[in-house]
Amino acid sequence: MSSHGSPIPMSSRACGPLNGTAEVPGDKSISHRSLILGAMAVGETTITGLLEGQDVLDTAKAMRAFGAEVIDHGGGSYSVHGVGVGGFAEPDNVIDCGNSGTGVRLLMGAMATSPICVTFTGDASLNSRPMARVTDPLALFGTQAVGRAGGRLPMTLVGAAEPVPVRYTVPVPSAQVKSAVLLAGLNAPGKTVVIEAEATRDHTERMLAGFGAEITVKETDEGRVITLTGQPELKSQHIDVPRDPSSAAFPVCAALIVPGSDVLVPGIGLNPTRAGLFTTLREMGADLTYENERSEGGEPVADLRARFSPDLQGIEVPPERAASMIDEYPVLSVVAACARGETVMRGVKELRVKESDRIEAMASGLRANGIEVEDGPDWWTVTGLGHGNIPGGAVCQSHLDHRIAMSFLILGMVSQQPVQVDDGGPIATSFPIFEPLMAELGAQVSRLAE
Ligand code: S3P
Repeated sequence: MSSHGSPIPMSSRACGPLNGTAEVPGDKSISHRSLILGAMAVGETTITGLLEGQDVLDTAKAMRAFGAEVIDHGGGSYSVHGVGVGGFAEPDNVIDCGNSGTGVRLLMGAMATSPICVTFTGDASLNSRPMARVTDPLALFGTQAVGRAGGRLPMTLVGAAEPVPVRYTVPVPSAQVKSAVLLAGLNAPGKTVVIEAEATRDHTERMLAGFGAEITVKETDEGRVITLTGQPELKSQHIDVPRDPSSAAFPVCAALIVPGSDVLVPGIGLNPTRAGLFTTLREMGADLTYENERSEGGEPVADLRARFSPDLQGIEVPPERAASMIDEYPVLSVVAACARGETVMRGVKELRVKESDRIEAMASGLRANGIEVEDGPDWWTVTGLGHGNIPGGAVCQSHLDHRIAMSFLILGMVSQQPVQVDDGGPIATSFPIFEPLMAELGAQVSRLAE
């Protein structure tokens, strides 16, 4: 089942060259944070380029339930009238975060140090994902949480009435966990310190500084030490959301593997904590260039130009790069299938607890389409068949995971037989214009009758 309706079976087939400009939607991580920080600021925060995917719309709805006014001006333009740090109201009803791990984990952090009681739920995918990684550190502030076995949603949190600041070393590389602790630290007196051994996406730190919080980041032997001074008055901002590198990954990878393609993907956020895929693709021999490099709203941005790359080689992806491309391994595995030789991906245990077990989901679908994949608890390898040699022809399961659905649809574009996905509905969570955008470039993606 799709996250918000009946399944939408889809298919893609081999096509001619992909050409043109692909204007992908706004960054999902920054969009969630814009709404949440806007709601915790005083005054009116204006946002342009917000991703209007279901995940972010669910967060907007939640912010309204917490008492902020969120106004949709159309075309990705929004304004948020914030209630200030510590100003959240208790929602009247359950907060449904749909498919979004980022939404629920950041919201849990944001409410954890306010004396309100909130019940969170989501779709079947989200309700199977681990939440203890967030509720454990939140307990240190004094927040109580009761959920289903294994720390699963639905779950009720009672925010700490008299929160204490926390010093916490994040045990898994997770920007969601780091961000939840920092957002909770906003309404705790004194200094909250978060330490991460491996750098993960740093949008929360950058945006907190932009909203006027006192926050410092030091690289030490322990890792990145982030120190936030609690109870600031966050000042409303204008945020121009850059386009999402994780969405850009799909037209970029498609252009690299569909013969004759030449695609420009403008205005992509290239924060180094997000751009690992593009480095990896270039190491594989991709004809991928950055044009017009610039800075927008505190984030590095460039136009990406991807051209068909006939000589892609499998590589060993450095495990220390995993956090900077964690959402991109599914589509990388499709490029790897078109390369020559083996692509080895290690240090990727976190892929097993995303919207789906992404190693398992991709491995079984790739195998069904004639590609050799081996996998272990925190690694997998794909043996490339070279261009034009992928049999295809299988029906793949998306497991309520947008990135799995899109990855298999890219695979179909370079396979001898069409590739089907059982449900493309989840694509709407992060990339609602995926179908028209890919069609405009020349791809053959279609919906099938159920
Ligand atoms: C995100 C962090 C990552 C990523 C997710 C978005 C964020 O999750 O996979 O799509 O916006 O903080 P983890 O924190 O689980 O690594």
